[in-house]
Amino acid sequence: MSKRKISTLEICGPEQGSSQTHGDNLGFCGSRPCYRGPYDLRQGQKRSMLPCVVEQEEPANKRKREEDSPQTNGDKPYNLKAKRVKKIWKACVGKYYSKGELLGQGGFGSVYAGTRLSDGLPVALKYVRKDEEEELNLPGLEDPMPREVGLFKMVNTPSTHPNILKLYDWFDRPASYVMAMERPNPCQDLFEYCQEQGGALNEDQARNIAQQLLGALQHCHDCGVVHRDVKPENILIQPETQEIKLIDFGCGDPLKHTPYEEFSGTPCFLPPEWFQKKKFLAGPGTVWSVGVTLYNIVCGRLPFETFTSKKMRQVKFHGDVSAGFKDFVRCCLRPRAEDRTNLEQLQFHPWLHQSS
Ligand SMILES: Nc1ncnc2c1ncn2[C@@H]1O[C@H](COP(=O)(O)OP(=O)(O)OP(=O)(O)O)[C@@H](O)[C@H]1O
Ligand SMILES: [Mg+2]
Repeated sequence: MSKRKISTLEICGPEQGSSQTHGDNLGFCGSRPCYRGPYDLRQGQKRSMLPCVVEQEEPANKRKREEDSPQTNGDKPYNLKAKRVKKIWKACVGKYYSKGELLGQGGFGSVYAGTRLSDGLPVALKYVRKDEEEELNLPGLEDPMPREVGLFKMVNTPSTHPNILKLYDWFDRPASYVMAMERPNPCQDLFEYCQEQGGALNEDQARNIAQQLLGALQHCHDCGVVHRDVKPENILIQPETQEIKLIDFGCGDPLKHTPYEEFSGTPCFLPPEWFQKKKFLAGPGTVWSVGVTLYNIVCGRLPFETFTSKKMRQVKFHGDVSAGFKDFVRCCLRPRAEDRTNLEQLQFHPWLHQSS
């Protein structure tokens, strides 16, 4: 079974200047396992950037012809014959949405700014290659759907959450799928935002982000979804309101109470039990990634440079941070998963409720 996203591993060929290799540590048997090593927000390198191939659009005249064919929408493409499916869905995206500038690119897809033609609503269009992507069967729906779409639907049902991006629509293609999602306007991902703010945020900003993020992650778990790739690149922020939205369920999975044993996510945000035992539980794994994310946005660097149990035993703080913040991060980054504060308890941590 192969899972989406090997972000850091994918971007770090030797030619990109990685000075350390930790392949065995990461539980990967690929031929070029390495990671970027010390990560500093100010270095300006995203952790999940890889050029990808997006299916070519049909020539304009052909597209025009197809636009005249019957349209369907939503969740019913799988029981149609492949050729017909292709025809219908290729026509659909362009019929309902216009595509604008590229917003982001990862290992499996590209995200573009878009507009819904009927009412001018800003959207983001994410084009994803299917590869070996598994499909999910959701209760109440006849047909299976791509995992990311299914998880997105689960977190938007029965109620949405203000800090989780909304999925409006999706289109299936034989080798790829397209998701039309909410696009807060203006917004940036938290990685870019931190860079613009000089590399790090103050604790008041971080506290506000942490409160929203924990609420979003709790909602995911309540809906039976584990995100598994919590990091600044997967959090959008609206600079004026400081409201955040959790995005990118491409590494997620249905929540289970037994360990996850396959790699998914971004190595520097994975907990020590992954590096030691090649498995981790949803709750402690999520809390660890929250700790790394908070450390990252406040300290402007990652807490650990190497992924050995010795190095990951104790987090060191650089710069002027409060005792409350240190305690919050330490609660998330306790080396033994069973000692780590759980997601529910973490929401009551005093640092989160401190007034500025
Ligand atoms: N709805 C959106 N509005 C604005 N920008 C977005 C939106 N969705 C994604 N982006 C931008 O595109 C980047 C990549 O998006 P996303 O994280 O969904 O894909 P990815 O990391 O390439 O995922 P994968 O490799 O799993 O396909 C984000 O980090 C963000 O900068
Ligand atoms: Mg992403």
